[in-house]
Amino acid sequence: MEIGVFEGESLTLALPGTRAIGIDPGHQLAHQVTATARLYRETSDDFFVKHNVRKVLGGLPVDLAFIDGMHLFEFALRDFMNIEALTSENSTVMVHDCLPIDETTAARDRTTNKWSGDIWKLILCLKEYRPDLRISVVDVRPTGLAMIRGLDATSTVLADRYEEICAKYVPMPFSVLDADRDRMLNVFPDDWPQIRSLLPAEPFRSESSSASAPGRRGAAALSKRVMRRLARVGR
Ligand SMILES: C[S@@+](CC[C@H](N)C(=O)[O-])C[C@H]1O[C@@H](n2cnc3c(N)ncnc32)[C@H](O)[C@@H]1O
Repeated sequence: MEIGVFEGESLTLALPGTRAIGIDPGHQLAHQVTATARLYRETSDDFFVKHNVRKVLGGLPVDLAFIDGMHLFEFALRDFMNIEALTSENSTVMVHDCLPIDETTAARDRTTNKWSGDIWKLILCLKEYRPDLRISVVDVRPTGLAMIRGLDATSTVLADRYEEICAKYVPMPFSVLDADRDRMLNVFPDDWPQIRSLLPAEPFRSESSSASAPGRRGAAALSKRVMRRLARVGR
């Protein structure tokens, strides 16, 4: 599941036969994506309200999600909450733009071409309210990629405290990171063997014996390509 598809470059990484879902109110698909991908031209908030997503997924959990839609904290938080409810204990959620470059490109109001917004606050928020999650922000250029594991589809902490969380985090200034950005954001080295150790042995579901379904080695290679390309294009 990808929130924020744009031209679909990242979605091309979904192999043939993958049940892939892309959500973006303004996507401009310019790449050939697998025929089994379904695109929804709507905001992620609308998507989760309007559709019976479990039915859309054919009863399967979301194995891998990439959050790269609206680059504001509260939008990314809602995307995370909506997705986590659809995951299994073996799922992975990736979030783009969690390692900001500077205050200007991380501002809530966009004034620059390159804009990561205040998504970085999601990491601080999850560390505070969901210490049960395993969070690493891989230091890939330009603005990092968070990998979140240990998901719990039954957790209601974020939903129950959503107003309190927004009141605390939306106005939070960039300067809080001055204390120790890398420690606060769980920065993780851009080193593939170390990154690989964060991922499940079989990160992608193979539903059938299709020749295109990745085996153990194939899945690892695919994950590496996903990491590299997501970091490059998701901006
Ligand atoms: C940075 S681009 C996504 C790039 C894409 N993930 C990739 O890797 O190629 C951000 C996209 O998010 C979309 N977007 C903005 N607000 C959104 C929302 N509320 N829900 C879903 N997508 C949104 C924009 O239309 C834009 O195409």
